[in-house]
Amino acid sequence: MALLGKDRIEYKTNAEMLQIRKAALIVAQIHRELAAAVRPGITTAELDAIALQVLRSNGAKSNFFGYYDYPAQTCISVNDTVVHGIPGAQTLAPGDIVSLDCGAVLHGWHGDACFTAVVPGGDEKKRKERERLSRITRTAMWHGIAAMATGKYVRDIGSAIDDYVMTLSPEIRPDIVLDFIGHGIGTRMHQAPDVMNYRTRGKSPRLKPGMVLCIEPILTAGKQDNYTLADGWTVKTKDGSDACHWEHEVALHDRGIWVLSAPDGGAQELAQFGIVPVLPGQ
Ligand code: MF3
Ligand code: CO
Repeated sequence: MALLGKDRIEYKTNAEMLQIRKAALIVAQIHRELAAAVRPGITTAELDAIALQVLRSNGAKSNFFGYYDYPAQTCISVNDTVVHGIPGAQTLAPGDIVSLDCGAVLHGWHGDACFTAVVPGGDEKKRKERERLSRITRTAMWHGIAAMATGKYVRDIGSAIDDYVMTLSPEIRPDIVLDFIGHGIGTRMHQAPDVMNYRTRGKSPRLKPGMVLCIEPILTAGKQDNYTLADGWTVKTKDGSDACHWEHEVALHDRGIWVLSAPDGGAQELAQFGIVPVLPGQ
Protein backbone atom coordinates (compact mmCIF):
# COMPACT_ATOMS: atom_id res chain seq x y z
CA MET A 1 0.00 0.00 0.00
CA ALA A 2 1.18 3.47 -0.73
CA LEU A 3 2.69 4.68 2.50
CA LEU A 4 3.68 7.89 0.75
CA GLY A 5 3.57 9.06 -2.81
CA LYS A 6 3.18 12.68 -3.73
CA ASP A 7 5.71 12.38 -6.52
CA ARG A 8 5.20 12.54 -10.29
CA ILE A 9 4.04 9.57 -12.27
CA GLU A 10 6.95 7.62 -13.78
CA TYR A 11 5.90 6.60 -17.30
CA LYS A 12 7.73 3.50 -18.50
CA THR A 13 8.81 2.48 -21.98
CA ASN A 14 7.78 -0.93 -23.30
CA ALA A 15 11.33 -2.16 -22.71
CA GLU A 16 11.21 -0.95 -19.10
CA MET A 17 7.88 -2.72 -18.60
CA LEU A 18 9.52 -5.94 -19.76
CA GLN A 19 12.28 -5.37 -17.18
CA ILE A 20 9.62 -4.92 -14.48
CA ARG A 21 7.99 -8.11 -15.72
CA LYS A 22 11.15 -10.06 -14.80
CA ALA A 23 10.85 -8.87 -11.20
CA ALA A 24 7.09 -9.48 -11.13
CA LEU A 25 7.50 -13.04 -12.45
CA ILE A 26 9.94 -13.77 -9.62
CA VAL A 27 7.13 -12.69 -7.28
CA ALA A 28 4.81 -15.08 -9.15
CA GLN A 29 7.33 -17.89 -8.60
CA ILE A 30 7.47 -17.06 -4.87
CA HIS A 31 3.66 -17.24 -4.81
CA ARG A 32 3.66 -20.70 -6.41
CA GLU A 33 6.20 -22.04 -3.93
CA LEU A 34 4.39 -20.51 -0.97
CA ALA A 35 1.02 -21.83 -2.16
CA ALA A 36 2.54 -25.32 -2.29
CA ALA A 37 4.05 -24.92 1.20
CA VAL A 38 0.99 -23.58 3.06
CA ARG A 39 -0.18 -26.28 5.47
CA PRO A 40 -1.16 -26.64 9.14
CA GLY A 41 1.86 -26.38 11.44
CA ILE A 42 4.20 -24.41 9.18
CA THR A 43 5.42 -21.15 10.70
CA THR A 44 5.18 -17.86 8.90
CA ALA A 45 8.97 -17.52 9.36
CA GLU A 46 9.43 -20.76 7.41
CA LEU A 47 7.31 -19.35 4.59
CA ASP A 48 9.40 -16.16 4.65
CA ALA A 49 12.55 -18.30 4.33
CA ILE A 50 11.12 -19.96 1.21
CA ALA A 51 10.58 -16.51 -0.30
CA LEU A 52 14.20 -15.57 0.50
CA GLN A 53 15.47 -18.72 -1.18
CA VAL A 54 13.49 -18.02 -4.38
CA LEU A 55 14.72 -14.41 -4.40
CA ARG A 56 18.35 -15.55 -4.01
CA SER A 57 18.10 -18.24 -6.68
CA ASN A 58 16.96 -15.50 -9.09
CA GLY A 59 19.62 -12.98 -8.08
CA ALA A 60 16.88 -10.70 -6.71
CA LYS A 61 16.23 -9.02 -3.37
CA SER A 62 13.12 -8.26 -1.34
CA ASN A 63 11.97 -4.67 -1.58
CA PHE A 64 10.11 -5.09 1.73
CA PHE A 65 13.18 -5.90 3.85
CA GLY A 66 14.54 -2.65 5.26
CA TYR A 67 11.65 -0.56 3.89
CA TYR A 68 11.12 1.84 6.82
CA ASP A 69 13.12 -0.82 8.71
CA TYR A 70 10.60 -3.58 7.89
CA PRO A 71 12.30 -6.73 9.28
CA ALA A 72 11.29 -9.52 6.83
CA GLN A 73 11.15 -10.51 3.15
CA THR A 74 7.36 -10.80 3.00
CA CYS A 75 4.20 -9.72 4.83
CA ILE A 76 2.14 -12.69 6.01
CA SER A 77 -1.22 -11.69 7.44
CA VAL A 78 -3.33 -14.36 9.14
CA ASN A 79 -7.11 -14.15 9.89
CA ASP A 80 -7.85 -10.79 11.58
CA THR A 81 -4.49 -9.33 10.47
CA VAL A 82 -5.35 -6.93 7.64
CA VAL A 83 -1.87 -6.24 6.24
CA HIS A 84 1.84 -6.10 7.19
CA GLY A 85 1.90 -9.22 9.36
CA ILE A 86 5.57 -9.86 10.25
CA PRO A 87 6.63 -13.48 9.67
CA GLY A 88 7.68 -15.22 12.86
CA ALA A 89 6.92 -18.13 15.19
CA GLN A 90 3.18 -18.14 14.44
CA THR A 91 2.08 -21.52 13.07
CA LEU A 92 -0.73 -21.86 10.55
CA ALA A 93 -3.80 -23.74 11.78
CA PRO A 94 -6.39 -25.67 9.74
CA GLY A 95 -8.86 -23.25 8.14
CA ASP A 96 -6.73 -20.11 8.62
CA ILE A 97 -7.00 -17.41 5.94
CA VAL A 98 -3.52 -16.19 5.04
CA SER A 99 -2.49 -13.30 2.79
CA LEU A 100 1.06 -13.62 1.44
CA ASP A 101 2.35 -10.29 0.14
CA CYS A 102 5.70 -10.58 -1.66
CA GLY A 103 8.06 -8.33 -3.56
CA ALA A 104 11.24 -8.55 -5.58
CA VAL A 105 13.66 -6.01 -6.94
CA LEU A 106 15.78 -6.98 -9.94
CA HIS A 107 18.18 -4.58 -11.70
CA GLY A 108 16.43 -1.73 -9.90
CA TRP A 109 12.90 -2.63 -11.06
CA HIS A 110 10.23 -3.54 -8.52
CA GLY A 111 7.75 -6.42 -8.42
CA ASP A 112 4.94 -6.51 -5.82
CA ALA A 113 1.96 -8.86 -5.60
CA CYS A 114 -0.16 -10.62 -2.99
CA PHE A 115 -2.34 -13.71 -2.92
CA THR A 116 -4.51 -15.31 -0.24
CA ALA A 117 -4.69 -18.98 0.70
CA VAL A 118 -7.05 -20.79 3.04
CA VAL A 119 -5.36 -23.60 4.96
CA PRO A 120 -7.10 -26.97 4.42
CA GLY A 121 -9.07 -28.53 7.27
CA GLY A 122 -10.70 -27.03 10.35
CA ASP A 123 -14.36 -26.17 10.76
CA GLU A 124 -15.96 -26.54 7.34
CA LYS A 125 -18.46 -23.68 7.68
CA LYS A 126 -15.74 -21.25 8.78
CA ARG A 127 -13.42 -22.41 6.02
CA LYS A 128 -16.11 -21.98 3.36
CA GLU A 129 -16.77 -18.41 4.59
CA ARG A 130 -13.07 -17.65 4.32
CA GLU A 131 -12.83 -19.17 0.86
CA ARG A 132 -15.75 -16.96 -0.17
CA LEU A 133 -14.03 -13.85 1.24
CA SER A 134 -10.90 -14.73 -0.74
CA ARG A 135 -12.89 -15.38 -3.92
CA ILE A 136 -14.73 -12.06 -3.58
CA THR A 137 -11.52 -10.11 -2.92
CA ARG A 138 -9.79 -11.76 -5.88
CA THR A 139 -12.76 -11.03 -8.15
CA ALA A 140 -12.78 -7.41 -6.93
CA MET A 141 -9.10 -7.19 -7.93
CA TRP A 142 -9.87 -8.50 -11.45
CA HIS A 143 -12.68 -5.95 -11.83
CA GLY A 144 -10.15 -3.25 -10.96
CA ILE A 145 -7.63 -4.67 -13.43
CA ALA A 146 -10.26 -4.78 -16.20
CA ALA A 147 -11.08 -1.12 -15.50
CA MET A 148 -7.43 -0.24 -16.10
CA ALA A 149 -7.96 -1.53 -19.67
CA THR A 150 -11.38 0.03 -20.28
CA GLY A 151 -11.40 3.13 -18.04
CA LYS A 152 -10.35 6.71 -18.64
CA TYR A 153 -9.09 7.78 -15.22
CA VAL A 154 -7.14 6.02 -12.47
CA ARG A 155 -10.16 6.47 -10.20
CA ASP A 156 -12.20 4.21 -12.53
CA ILE A 157 -10.25 1.30 -11.00
CA GLY A 158 -11.60 2.05 -7.53
CA SER A 159 -15.09 2.59 -8.86
CA ALA A 160 -15.03 -0.82 -10.55
CA ILE A 161 -13.88 -2.50 -7.33
CA ASP A 162 -16.55 -0.66 -5.32
CA ASP A 163 -19.32 -1.35 -7.85
CA TYR A 164 -18.53 -5.06 -7.92
CA VAL A 165 -18.58 -5.31 -4.10
CA MET A 166 -21.90 -3.42 -4.05
CA THR A 167 -23.49 -6.05 -6.34
CA LEU A 168 -23.16 -8.56 -3.48
CA SER A 169 -26.09 -9.03 -1.14
CA PRO A 170 -25.67 -7.16 2.18
CA GLU A 171 -25.55 -10.39 4.26
CA ILE A 172 -22.35 -11.54 2.57
CA ARG A 173 -20.91 -8.22 1.38
CA PRO A 174 -17.41 -7.55 2.80
CA ASP A 175 -16.24 -4.08 3.81
CA ILE A 176 -13.57 -2.36 1.71
CA VAL A 177 -10.57 -1.32 3.84
CA LEU A 178 -10.11 2.42 3.29
CA ASP A 179 -6.68 2.96 4.88
CA PHE A 180 -4.55 0.89 2.46
CA ILE A 181 -4.54 1.44 -1.28
CA GLY A 182 -2.77 0.53 -4.49
CA HIS A 183 0.02 2.53 -6.07
CA GLY A 184 2.27 3.20 -9.01
CA ILE A 185 5.47 1.13 -9.07
CA GLY A 186 8.69 1.08 -11.06
CA THR A 187 12.12 2.20 -9.92
CA ARG A 188 10.59 2.37 -6.42
CA MET A 189 7.98 0.12 -4.82
CA HIS A 190 5.58 2.94 -4.02
CA GLN A 191 5.04 5.72 -6.52
CA ALA A 192 2.28 8.02 -7.70
CA PRO A 193 -0.53 7.67 -8.46
CA ASP A 194 -2.58 6.44 -5.52
CA VAL A 195 -4.99 3.71 -6.63
CA MET A 196 -8.07 3.75 -4.40
CA ASN A 197 -10.13 0.62 -3.80
CA TYR A 198 -13.40 2.58 -3.65
CA ARG A 199 -15.33 5.16 -5.65
CA THR A 200 -14.02 8.72 -5.38
CA ARG A 201 -14.98 12.00 -7.01
CA GLY A 202 -12.83 14.86 -8.18
CA LYS A 203 -9.44 15.00 -9.79
CA SER A 204 -7.74 11.81 -10.88
CA PRO A 205 -4.92 11.25 -13.37
CA ARG A 206 -5.85 9.96 -16.80
CA LEU A 207 -4.98 6.32 -17.48
CA LYS A 208 -2.08 6.63 -19.92
CA PRO A 209 0.32 4.27 -21.69
CA GLY A 210 3.48 3.87 -19.62
CA MET A 211 1.67 3.46 -16.29
CA VAL A 212 2.47 0.46 -14.12
CA LEU A 213 0.06 0.11 -11.20
CA CYS A 214 -0.40 -2.26 -8.28
CA ILE A 215 -4.12 -2.97 -7.89
CA GLU A 216 -4.70 -4.41 -4.43
CA PRO A 217 -8.11 -4.46 -2.77
CA ILE A 218 -8.21 -5.42 0.90
CA LEU A 219 -11.60 -6.58 2.21
CA THR A 220 -12.90 -7.57 5.64
CA ALA A 221 -15.69 -9.99 6.53
CA GLY A 222 -16.84 -7.57 9.26
CA LYS A 223 -16.10 -3.88 9.73
CA GLN A 224 -13.07 -2.42 7.98
CA ASP A 225 -11.96 -0.35 11.01
CA ASN A 226 -8.43 -1.29 12.00
CA TYR A 227 -5.53 -0.49 14.31
CA THR A 228 -1.77 -1.07 14.32
CA LEU A 229 -0.02 -3.15 16.98
CA ALA A 230 2.86 -1.78 19.08
CA ASP A 231 5.33 -3.46 16.65
CA GLY A 232 4.50 -0.54 14.35
CA TRP A 233 3.47 -2.83 11.47
CA THR A 234 0.83 -5.47 12.18
CA VAL A 235 -2.61 -4.07 11.25
CA LYS A 236 -5.66 -5.82 12.74
CA THR A 237 -9.41 -5.42 12.39
CA LYS A 238 -10.95 -3.78 15.45
CA ASP A 239 -13.84 -6.25 15.50
CA GLY A 240 -11.57 -9.29 15.09
CA SER A 241 -13.15 -10.20 11.74
CA ASP A 242 -11.20 -11.83 8.92
CA ALA A 243 -9.37 -9.79 6.32
CA CYS A 244 -8.18 -10.66 2.82
CA HIS A 245 -5.76 -9.07 0.34
CA TRP A 246 -5.05 -9.78 -3.33
CA GLU A 247 -2.69 -7.76 -5.51
CA HIS A 248 -1.39 -7.76 -9.07
CA GLU A 249 1.05 -5.45 -10.85
CA VAL A 250 -0.32 -4.27 -14.19
CA ALA A 251 1.21 -2.43 -17.17
CA LEU A 252 -0.79 -0.13 -19.46
CA HIS A 253 0.84 0.48 -22.85
CA ASP A 254 -0.08 1.69 -26.33
CA ARG A 255 -1.67 -1.65 -27.31
CA GLY A 256 -3.47 -2.58 -24.08
CA ILE A 257 -2.70 -4.01 -20.65
CA TRP A 258 -0.55 -6.89 -19.41
CA VAL A 259 -0.62 -8.26 -15.86
CA LEU A 260 3.12 -8.38 -15.18
CA SER A 261 2.81 -10.59 -12.08
CA ALA A 262 0.74 -13.24 -13.91
CA PRO A 263 2.65 -15.61 -16.21
CA ASP A 264 -0.22 -15.47 -18.76
CA GLY A 265 -0.59 -11.68 -18.46
CA GLY A 266 -4.04 -12.22 -16.97
CA ALA A 267 -5.47 -13.80 -20.16
CA GLN A 268 -7.51 -16.45 -18.38
CA GLU A 269 -9.18 -14.10 -15.87
CA LEU A 270 -9.63 -11.16 -18.25
CA ALA A 271 -11.51 -13.29 -20.81
CA GLN A 272 -14.73 -12.86 -18.77
CA PHE A 273 -14.40 -9.10 -19.37
CA GLY A 274 -13.74 -9.57 -23.10
CA ILE A 275 -10.16 -8.33 -22.64
CA VAL A 276 -7.17 -9.94 -24.33
CA PRO A 277 -3.93 -8.81 -22.66
CA VAL A 278 -1.07 -7.76 -24.93
CA LEU A 279 2.60 -7.95 -23.99
CA PRO A 280 4.24 -4.50 -24.10
CA GLY A 281 5.95 -3.99 -27.47
CA GLN A 282 3.89 -6.70 -29.22
N1 MF3 B 1 3.59 -4.98 -0.45
C1 MF3 B 1 2.96 -3.89 0.22
C2 MF3 B 1 2.17 -3.19 -0.85
O1 MF3 B 1 1.42 -3.91 -1.43
C3 MF3 B 1 3.92 -3.06 0.95
C4 MF3 B 1 4.65 -3.80 1.97
S1 MF3 B 1 5.15 -2.74 3.19
C5 MF3 B 1 6.64 -3.37 3.67
O2 MF3 B 1 2.30 -2.08 -1.23
F1 MF3 B 1 7.11 -2.59 4.56
F2 MF3 B 1 6.49 -4.55 4.06
F3 MF3 B 1 7.43 -3.36 2.64
CO1 CO C 1 1.56 -3.06 -3.29
